[in-house]
Amino acid sequence: MTIATPPQALQNARSLDSYWMPFTANRQFKAAPRLLASAQGMHYATEDGRKVIDGTAGLWCVNAGHGRQPITQAVERQLATLDYAPSFQMGHPIAFDFAERLAAIAPGEGAGKLDRIFFTGSGSESVDTALKIAIAYQRAIGQGTRTRLIGRERGYHGVGFGGITVGGLVNNRRVFPLLPGADHLRHTHDLERNAFSKGQPDHGAELADDLERLVALHGAETIAAVIVEPMAGSTGVLVPPKGYLERLREIATRHGILLIFDEVITGFGRLGTPFASEYFGVMPDLMTTAKGITNGTIPMGAVFAARKVHDALMNGPEATIELFHGYTYSGHPVACAAGLATLDIYAGEGLLTRVQALAPLWEEALHALRGVPHVIDIRTIGLVAGIELASRPGAVGARAYEAFVDCFEKGLLIRVTGDVIALSPPLICEPSQIEEMVSLLRGALERLA
Ligand SMILES: Cc1ncc(COP(=O)(O)O)c(C=O)c1O
Repeated sequence: MTIATPPQALQNARSLDSYWMPFTANRQFKAAPRLLASAQGMHYATEDGRKVIDGTAGLWCVNAGHGRQPITQAVERQLATLDYAPSFQMGHPIAFDFAERLAAIAPGEGAGKLDRIFFTGSGSESVDTALKIAIAYQRAIGQGTRTRLIGRERGYHGVGFGGITVGGLVNNRRVFPLLPGADHLRHTHDLERNAFSKGQPDHGAELADDLERLVALHGAETIAAVIVEPMAGSTGVLVPPKGYLERLREIATRHGILLIFDEVITGFGRLGTPFASEYFGVMPDLMTTAKGITNGTIPMGAVFAARKVHDALMNGPEATIELFHGYTYSGHPVACAAGLATLDIYAGEGLLTRVQALAPLWEEALHALRGVPHVIDIRTIGLVAGIELASRPGAVGARAYEAFVDCFEKGLLIRVTGDVIALSPPLICEPSQIEEMVSLLRGALERLA
C-alpha cells in the first residue's frame, strides 16, 4: 500500500490562527498540532509521512476505508455533468436514484418500512429534520398537542438546537438555551452491574420504563417522539441492555409516541447488519443517518421515514407543500453520486454484513486488555469498542487524552470522550490490523500514569 506524498502546500509552515476548529481545545491544539495529510485504505499519513492506522473510521464515517477510487471517479463525473441543482420545486435524476437505492436496503415492512427518504447535509440536520417530521406527523393525524420531545441522558444527537435539546451531554447544553418542554430518559450505563459485558449487557431493561414515568408526568398527549441512539457511540459507547429497546418500542407504541433511532453512527454496517434496528430486531418509525452514507467523502445525511409517517403528511390540496423544511444541499447531486458509489462498494464487498465475521475476533482481542492498569470497563459490540479508564481525581478525561496523544505518536488514531476510549475502525479492517491496533493501544495504556 502506498500513501501519496502530501502536496507541497501542506508541507510548508503555515499559520494556524484563522481556522476556528470544531470540538477542539484550539489553543492547546495549535501549540502542538496533529495534522493528517493523506489517507489510503486503513491508514492516514501525517505531514511528515508517518503512517497512522485509522482506529476510528475518521469520525465513524469512512466505513469502506480511505481513498476509494470508484467514489472519487463518481464524484468527478458528477461534478462535470451536473455540479449543483436546486431541490425546491425542482428535481434531478440522481437524487431520485439514490433515494430508491437507499429505500431498497431500508429496514421494516409494509406501512412500517422506512423507505421514504429525506436528504440532509449532516447528522445534525438529519436529527432536527426527524424531530420536525415527528411533530408535523402528529399534527397531521390530529394530535397537534404532541410537541414535546424526549431524549436520553448521555445521548448525542449533533449540535442543532433540536439535537442539543434532546441530547444529554452537559457540555453541549449548558451554555445554550434549549427548546421548551423536552425531557430525558435516564441513561443505561451501569458499571456496577454490567462492567466487561460482551455485546448487550444483562441488566437495565427496566430503565425503558422511564418513558412510562414521563408519560405519567407530562401526559402522552403532549409527547411527539422519543429519540435514542440504538447504540450510543459519541458519549462513550453505551450498548443497550438486553430487552431495553424492545420495551421502549412497546411503551412508545402504546402511547402513540413515535420512536426515532439515531443511526448516524450505527447505520451502514457498523454492527454487522445494514442498520442497528435489524441487529436488535426493533423497528423505529424514523431513522436518522449520515456519515457512512457517502463513506464520509461528501457531507450528506438522510432521514428514513416509515411509509405511514410520510403518507400521513401527503394529504390536503396537491398544490400544498406538505413539509415546510429542506436545505439548499438536500439531495446534492455530487453527494448522491458519492453515495451511490459507496453503496456499490458496500454491496460488492459485502461490507454491510462483514462485521458479523469479524466481531468474535474483535471482542476477544479487545477484552484481552482486561487487567491492564486503569481499565475499569471494556464493552464491545459489532466493530465498536469502548475502553473506560479510571479518572484521575479532579481531572476527568486527562488520562484518556494522554493515551490519545501517545497512540497518535505511535501510529494509531483513537477517539476519546471523557475517560472512555472508543474504537470503530473501517469495516474493511483485517484481523492482523485488529491485533496491531490492540497492541498499540495496550502499549499506550501501559505507559499511562
Ligand atoms: C448519533 C449521532 N447523531 C448525530 C450526530 C451529528 O452528526 P454531524 O456531526 O454530521 O452533524 C452524530 C455525530 O457523531 C452522532 O454520533
